[in-house]
Amino acid sequence: MSKRLKELHEEITQSLKGVVESPRREAELLLMGYLKKDQLYFITHLNDQIDEKDPELLEWVAKRSQNIPLEYLTNRVSFYSREFYIDGGALIPRPETEHLIDEVLARVSADTSFNVVEVGVGSGIISIMLALHLPYARFIAVDISPHALRVARRNIEAFGLSERIELREGDLLSCVSEKIDLLVSNPPYIALDAPLESNLSYEPQNALFGGKSGDEIIRRLLDEVYNRKIPQFICEMGYDQRIKVEEYLKKFALQSLEFYTDLASFDRGFALKVNHE
Ligand SMILES: C[S@@+](CC[C@H](N)C(=O)[O-])C[C@H]1O[C@@H](n2cnc3c(N)ncnc32)[C@H](O)[C@@H]1O
Repeated sequence: MSKRLKELHEEITQSLKGVVESPRREAELLLMGYLKKDQLYFITHLNDQIDEKDPELLEWVAKRSQNIPLEYLTNRVSFYSREFYIDGGALIPRPETEHLIDEVLARVSADTSFNVVEVGVGSGIISIMLALHLPYARFIAVDISPHALRVARRNIEAFGLSERIELREGDLLSCVSEKIDLLVSNPPYIALDAPLESNLSYEPQNALFGGKSGDEIIRRLLDEVYNRKIPQFICEMGYDQRIKVEEYLKKFALQSLEFYTDLASFDRGFALKVNHE
């Protein structure tokens, strides 16, 4: 049986009410993803007939009604104006992580060659965007999750960057013995007991939780910066972790420490330079 797109849109909107924040917009995005069409197509084809009983569409509506993120249904996510593959093995990239890219690009020269290591590569978005902007940089991108590395590999191949971004499986820098000029990371930084929205339960838990207080992995990375004599570290963090980071860094000699904020003016990360003697 078929229905006009606008009727189907209305029906799906009703079934998402009370589950997602913007049911009408979400129903539109779901249908756009299902039809593999953009917004312009959607609004100009509202009278098209759609098979309302298509099993894939029914499954998507049912899953979205359980608050499974749309990105995991469509396997598509947009980051820094580019499109990436995503599935439940990797964290869905967040818009605030785009600031991390900007902060790195503002602090390094695109004309020089240097070694970048990313810890917690997830879907690969950070290393990929940096590699596209820094043509002479070499990248090693680490993750502890084999599933996340599979997602990253797929994206790195799609962008033709396999020669420049080497993926490794390991715990933080345990699998990296090379000299590191720049360390970047968007590590898991949520505290284990933090109250979370239900849709986060579908994302890999080791991508979200940093430990009991949340900043454990950030602190381990700061220790690595000192032990491995890494001159520059740019890192995303939770909006409430600035004081903890400042406190932890008191024991180290710094060249500079700058915090940056996101669009909502929340503290979102820091850039650290260390002059290792
Ligand atoms: C917050 S996600 C970031 C993913 C991606 N870079 C992004 O910004 O969307 C953190 C990532 O760190 C990985 N991770 C967690 N603990 C780790 C560890 N001890 N060593 C290496 N990677 C780790 C997780 O598997 C996850 O992919």
